[in-house]
Amino acid sequence: MPITVEDDVIVRVKNVLIDQQRPMKERFRALFTLKNLGSEKAIAGISECFSDPSALLKHECAYCLGQLKDTSAIPILSSVLKDTCQDEMVRHEAGEALGAIGSTEVIDLLKEYSKDSSVAVAETCQLAVERIQWLHSEKSKQEILSENPYCSVDPAPPCEESSVNELKATLLDETLPLFKRYRAMFSLRNRGDDESALSLAEGLKCKSALFRHEIAYVLGQMANKSPVEQLKVNLQDENEVPMVRHECAEALGAIATDECMQLLQNYLKDREIVVKESCEVALDMCDYNKSDEFQYADGLNKQQFNT
Ligand SMILES: [Fe+2]
Ligand SMILES: [Fe+2]
Ligand SMILES: [Fe+2]
Repeated sequence: MPITVEDDVIVRVKNVLIDQQRPMKERFRALFTLKNLGSEKAIAGISECFSDPSALLKHECAYCLGQLKDTSAIPILSSVLKDTCQDEMVRHEAGEALGAIGSTEVIDLLKEYSKDSSVAVAETCQLAVERIQWLHSEKSKQEILSENPYCSVDPAPPCEESSVNELKATLLDETLPLFKRYRAMFSLRNRGDDESALSLAEGLKCKSALFRHEIAYVLGQMANKSPVEQLKVNLQDENEVPMVRHECAEALGAIATDECMQLLQNYLKDREIVVKESCEVALDMCDYNKSDEFQYADGLNKQQFNT
């Protein structure tokens, strides 16, 4: 049954989201509260955030809109993708979100931006086109695929049953199309064991920054302790692109060992704003994971009791 809350509560949570004076961690919690509500008004609230200075927050807004799979978010996501003044991380996430929504009406737009001068944006749009085409194909209905234990809408489906070694070989073969390699990535993630996590971690050395950032993202979902060292290497590498370092920081936050938390503390003052903000948010999630707080997205509780 859909959750129903008073519209003015949504407005109050949205006001936390867009309040630039508030700590980023609080704004993130507000964002996830709106995402969990998922109503048209919540989507409109999230959409108000795209003029914010924080690329991290805006990319997460785009991510949430994609995860909701609601076609009413197509216009705002399309405008963000087209806006070359937006950070490439934000435009990438808008393109990916359009792929997640899965509607064929955006295929032409995505094809156009598949040639964007930002490689990350271009690759994202190529993947999104392939995902949408796959989604609407006859073939997809016949494939028997592993289940995604994380309930996320991913930029590619897993592939059909194969061994860890085969999956790893596909994942790391830079001559193969990205979509095929992504499918191997999500199959390895769904397996969830140490061997799969370590195979995925080898992808952190691949050429495409988009690919490396997605590897870090799935390692964060898995929260498996085995690849901490590898994530650490990319986070610590100052020549690594911020989008990848950000995703490594969040993955370490999800793994949340004492070592991970110590490491994130060290980057709370990183000169890359997205890295610094990621550490702040990741440490907040660690606190949440270790506490007995009822839920991370607690914007509603706060609205109900602190007003
Ligand atoms: Fe993403
Ligand atoms: Fe991303
Ligand atoms: Fe991200």
